[in-house]
Amino acid sequence: MPERTIPPIRLGINIDHAATLRQVRGTRYPDPVEAALLAASAGADSITLHLREDRRHIQDRDLERLLPRCPVPVNLEMAVTPEMVGIACRLRPRFACLVPERRQERTTEGGLDIIAAQRQIKDACARLAGAGVAVALFVAPDTAHLQAIAACGAPHLEIHTGHYADALTVAAQTAELQRIRAFASAAGAAGLEVHAGHGLNVENVGSIARIEEIVELNIGHSIIASALFVGLPAAVAEMRRAMVDARYGLGAGA
Ligand code: PXP
Repeated sequence: MPERTIPPIRLGINIDHAATLRQVRGTRYPDPVEAALLAASAGADSITLHLREDRRHIQDRDLERLLPRCPVPVNLEMAVTPEMVGIACRLRPRFACLVPERRQERTTEGGLDIIAAQRQIKDACARLAGAGVAVALFVAPDTAHLQAIAACGAPHLEIHTGHYADALTVAAQTAELQRIRAFASAAGAAGLEVHAGHGLNVENVGSIARIEEIVELNIGHSIIASALFVGLPAAVAEMRRAMVDARYGLGAGA
């Protein structure tokens, strides 16, 4: 029997919170573009940034400056609005991840409501594909919605791991992990490329990184926080080690 190979897992670094630090004081530093370039040179496979409608962290100018300079693919997180679709079609990042957005939320709190917004999402996917942007849909791991998700026409999906990360008990976390595993397996079988992200840190990333259908993780807050103490290159390396060790059974992680 041929030996089964585990597909590699990529690490996308989300640089939003370098911009958060800048925006809270209205300074010119720290520059999220410099953070992105440093993360890329430290081994990030892609750079993610979320241009929110309220521009609370990343600004249009950050995206415009980053795109021509970034040596790895840029993944733009964006709401499904005419403004954001227009920006993405004009600037053409390699990837876009469609997310729900509410002004009052501290961070993206849930996945897209595929059922309520299917037409809008489908139209956005078609426009972005026409501009050469590969789209992921940020979704909760709900297998009942997989058909509707696939019908939107995006080649990738990103599983929202926030409930897994925030679970208050081991039982709740285990139950959410089971949902994520089942969903990733069904999505992979349906031909979708599966990513995951939100709330992941070096302690909780292992169980997610071990799921073979998941081939990319997008991680921001914990890495930028860790960078305050160890520096961004070391924080990126530490996360990559935690992911890879778990995936290939090399460490004892979560
Ligand atoms: N993926 C998506 C779609 C997100 O909205 C976010 C948060 O911006 C992340 C990943 C990264 O989450 P965190 O900052 O908690 O690592």
